Formats: sequence, structure tokens, C-alpha cells
Amino acid sequence: MNAHPETTRHAAAESDYGPAQQDGLAMRDVTMLLGDGDDTVRALDGVHLTVAAGEFAAIVGPSGSGKSSLLAVAGGLAVPDSGTVTIAGRPMTAASRRARTALRRDLVGFVFQSGNLLPALTALDQLRLLTRFASAGAVHRDPMELLTEVGMAGKADRRPHELSGGERQ
Ligand SMILES: Nc1ncnc2c1ncn2[C@@H]1O[C@H](COP(=O)(O)OP(=O)(O)OP(=O)(O)O)[C@@H](O)[C@H]1O
Ligand SMILES: [Mg+2]
Repeated sequence: MNAHPETTRHAAAESDYGPAQQDGLAMRDVTMLLGDGDDTVRALDGVHLTVAAGEFAAIVGPSGSGKSSLLAVAGGLAVPDSGTVTIAGRPMTAASRRARTALRRDLVGFVFQSGNLLPALTALDQLRLLTRFASAGAVHRDPMELLTEVGMAGKADRRPHELSGGERQ
């Protein structure tokens, strides 16, 4: 990456965050070019990153250093120009667009700053919708239980415009 963002690691105690899964995230020699012609930017330049299951990693770096590009590639939203990305042993980069979408649906969670919620649905229904989309093998969590975990049990019937920015996240 241009300005070398740093990765801060924190190994989570297994008991705090549930049982560790088989595998984590592995990025190998990942390169991504953005823009075209003279404006081409090497947003990612030979990135190697391993994040074990149960490990927390924070990507830190100056504006424009490639953090969003890294997260987009790590989560299978974007495809790198070269290199490989594996999540839980599943090759994100080798997969077709359709297969990648299914892997992303089942293996990746994004918290978008802007919320990216459906305006007409209540907080509970947003989560129920995800449950309906998930494949049979996906990890299932009860939507009401998830809301309770983040202290929002009393706001299950609220629509996005009735929630704070943090509550939407
Ligand atoms: N579509 C594009 N065409 C050309 N260059 C781009 C494009 N999108 C992003 N870039 C450049 O790629 C680099 C990485 O951008 P990225 O969005 O990953 O940075 P970032 O670390 O997330 O920055 P910020 O902290 O501001 O969110 C930047 O130098 C940016 O200007
Ligand atoms: Mg960014």
C-alpha cells in the first residue's frame, strides 16, 4: 500500500468471543490497481495478511493509504488484480462472481458507516431478512437475541430514521 497502513492485532480470548472457527483470513501477494492511464494508483501493492479465527485486527493508516481497498478485497466485495484471498479456507479470488456473492453472504459481515439499511423495514426485520437470504449451512443467530446483545431490544420496531447513527451501525 502507498503509505503503509499498519495492522494492530489483538488476540481474542476464545471464551470471550465464542469457539474459534477452522480458519481465518489469508491474503497473499495482493495487488490492486485503481483508475486508468496516467492516473493509475497502486492501491494495494503485494499485501500479505493473515488474521486467525477469533483474532481482531485494526487497519490503521493515513487517508488514501488503501484501507478501504484492503477491506473491500478482504471481504470479497472487490477482486484484486493479482494475488489470492482465502476466507475460512474458501478461495474468494478463484470464485465466480456468483460464488463470491454466496461466500460473502455466508462468511462476511460488513458494518457500513452509512448504515446501508432498507428504510421501510424495522430493525428486527432488517435482521430477519438476512436470515432468509442465508444458505442452510450459514451460522444462524436469532435476530432478537442479536438486538438484545447490543442493547436494542426495546428498539426492535424502529425504522432506520428513528435510530441514531451508532444504532444503525
Ligand atoms: N476509482 C479510483 N481511481 C483512481 N484512484 C482511486 C480510485 N479510488 C481510490 N483511489 C485511490 O486509491 C488509494 C487508496 O484509496 P482508499 O479508498 O483505499 O484509501 P483509504 O485508506 O480508505 O483512505 P480514507 O482514510 O480516506 O478512507 C487512494 O490514493 C485513492 O486516491
Ligand atoms: Mg477509506
